[in-house]
Amino acid sequence: MENIKLSIDKAFGFVSKESVAAYKAEVAAACKTLHTGSGKGSEYLGWLNLPSSIDNEHLTDIENTAKILRDNCEVVVVVGIGGSYLGSKAVNDALSSSFDWLLADRKSPIMIHAGQNIGEDYLYELQELLKTKKFGIISISKSGTTTEPALAFRLLKTQLEEQQGKAAAQKLIVAITDKSRGALRTLATQEGYKTFVIEDSIGGRFSVLSPVGLLPIAVAGFDVRELVKGAAKMEEVCGQDAAFEENPAAQYAAVRNELYRKGKGIEILVNFHPKLHFFGEWWKQLYGESEGKENKGIFPAAVDFSADLHSMGQWIQEGERSIFETVISIKETNHTKIFPTSEDNLDGLNFLAGKPVDFVNKMAELGTMLAHVDGGVPNLRLELPRLNEYYLGQMIYFFEKACGISGYLLGVNPFDQPGVEAYKANMFALLEKPGFEAETKAIKARL
Ligand code: PA5
Repeated sequence: MENIKLSIDKAFGFVSKESVAAYKAEVAAACKTLHTGSGKGSEYLGWLNLPSSIDNEHLTDIENTAKILRDNCEVVVVVGIGGSYLGSKAVNDALSSSFDWLLADRKSPIMIHAGQNIGEDYLYELQELLKTKKFGIISISKSGTTTEPALAFRLLKTQLEEQQGKAAAQKLIVAITDKSRGALRTLATQEGYKTFVIEDSIGGRFSVLSPVGLLPIAVAGFDVRELVKGAAKMEEVCGQDAAFEENPAAQYAAVRNELYRKGKGIEILVNFHPKLHFFGEWWKQLYGESEGKENKGIFPAAVDFSADLHSMGQWIQEGERSIFETVISIKETNHTKIFPTSEDNLDGLNFLAGKPVDFVNKMAELGTMLAHVDGGVPNLRLELPRLNEYYLGQMIYFFEKACGISGYLLGVNPFDQPGVEAYKANMFALLEKPGFEAETKAIKARL
């Protein structure tokens, strides 16, 4: 079977082949640091060998729990923020119909997310919608204390109990949290919810292959075994003993760091298929939270082409030359649609009639790549043979492994996120949380 494939040759007009090859020793040292657990943040390396360590019993537990929610719910609300929501949303969107929520003949519950914002209208509208729906909740929080999901869960738990009765509601709520700490663990024990553990050693943004991602993906009807199998394959391909030249995660980490050192401070993750939009959101969190610290780090952004070619495309082509792009290219689509012929040919496009739509998309991809390279935008390309669980699993592990290596090349701790606390402290001070009296006084004096 094929693997996903990284091409970096269209970066070589901007950085030399030799300068990337020169990372060999630095990358080997970073890999060794990861695999021996001797670097910064080494307490958070539970993701590193996760795919190959997931056993059949664990997957069966996930599938059986998913079946209960699938059999009893029209809607499943996944409550979580950041790493507790982006991974499953990315995979489910990539594998679902683009019009999933409108499908009449549904085989799986509609997946909705809450707890990723504090929008009062969002929560009101969600609760109005759920009034007429049989719904269940997957509540995900590693710390069990994050304000946004805690608020959403309070509202939804009460609603579910009112609509279904407390005993039935207990069976329709699954909690995924720390094994012993936090409010969600305490509540789950009290109420007797089915629970899954987020290991201490797995940070939120590296948790998609833990129950955090696997359960919502299984509930949506996708094959978590194939996802894990794909990730395990990439774990092998990008393993400790892989040669630098053969290891795509090592190559990606090296070339993006070299581009960064040459002044390319912005990376855009590009897709040509709109169902990959949330994969870009997942990737932004992975790289943004891992590398953006100590006043350094590539700024990760994501764009959906063709749509964004008609907005951001101008900046990318001709704006400040501080940007490079990584394109996710899908070799074969899952469906076929032929460019139609038109009798009057008013748009002059009959020369394309009979060609697959994806042929046109691929020419847009190729044309864009060449235009961007001509315009000073180095191009990296990650090709997936097709969009399915197996190759998404490969892509997830590839980006995780590359992120760990890349963070060490940059010299930061890729596994903490101290900066996320700053807004929380201010918010609690402004909300006059007990214990924050001094901060409240100080912050009010600034307003
Ligand atoms: O990557 C991370 O660790 C964060 O984005 C967390 O996932 C996010 O803050 C949610 O935290 P928690 O799962 O503790 O509610």
